[in-house]
Amino acid sequence: MSAIFTLKNIGLEFIVDGKKRPVLDDINLIIDDKKIYTIVGASGCGKTSLLRILGGLNSPSKGQIHYHNQPVTSPPVGVAFVFQDYSNSLLPWRTVEKNVALGIERDLSKKACLERVKEALHLVKLSNCAKDYPWQLSGGMQQRVQIARALATRPSVLLMDEPFAALDAMTKASLQDELLRLRDETGASIVFITHDIEEAIYLGDEVSVLIGPPGKITSHFSIELPFPRDQIKTRELPAFLKFRSYIHHAIQGQS
Ligand SMILES: Nc1ncnc2c1ncn2[C@@H]1O[C@H](COP(=O)(O)OP(=O)(O)OP(=O)(O)O)[C@@H](O)[C@H]1O
Ligand SMILES: [Mg+2]
Repeated sequence: MSAIFTLKNIGLEFIVDGKKRPVLDDINLIIDDKKIYTIVGASGCGKTSLLRILGGLNSPSKGQIHYHNQPVTSPPVGVAFVFQDYSNSLLPWRTVEKNVALGIERDLSKKACLERVKEALHLVKLSNCAKDYPWQLSGGMQQRVQIARALATRPSVLLMDEPFAALDAMTKASLQDELLRLRDETGASIVFITHDIEEAIYLGDEVSVLIGPPGKITSHFSIELPFPRDQIKTRELPAFLKFRSYIHHAIQGQS
């Protein structure tokens, strides 16, 4: 196993109306190969800001971030983003297959691009919707289109910002299971932001608790729960309930 991302003493602040607004403070994190990292924290604690630093979209004010041992100065190759707001992330005038092609169409031949799109839609089980428009799909299907768009780039890391937060409980559960399957099938590492403690444990190999602002990682849990995960059985395991209680307390700032 080797480190993909290394973050050392990362700090981030913005200047708003001439005043400093500290957003992240002393973040240390290593993202290894083929693992799911979930970062859980309350609204406004700095989760999106941290993910944007990993994606090369925010430059840290302090500290160092490396991707495969190279300093990150722009969006790194091999890293794909999935945003929370799928309805604003898909282009309504493009069909599903054309939305999925967005990140690759400039770099690949038409034939290679079509093959990649087909493969990505197959991975998220949307092969039958290639010619539909996003607005003809349910919310869960639209989010799968966004995931397919990210997968079409064959990323080694997927950065996901509360991707299932707007979905109903049943759709959310089935997409969580799809994500675990996709990790196994693609071997991608995933950094997954959520404010849902159970989701963080269910998906995560590692869970970090972020408290802020300014956001600090105050606790870290290696989730040793058996695979395959099961929506009923896993969530009833005593170890799952113990993690849930620990993380709940950690978020409230209690040990
Ligand atoms: N571009 C910016 N300029 C100024 N302040 C910002 C900027 N981006 C984020 N912030 C501030 O940073 C803090 C953290 O924001 P961030 O979006 O990272 O939180 P979050 O944990 O993702 O919240 P949520 O769960 O609501 O999405 C907030 O106080 C926000 O106002
Ligand atoms: Mg956010």
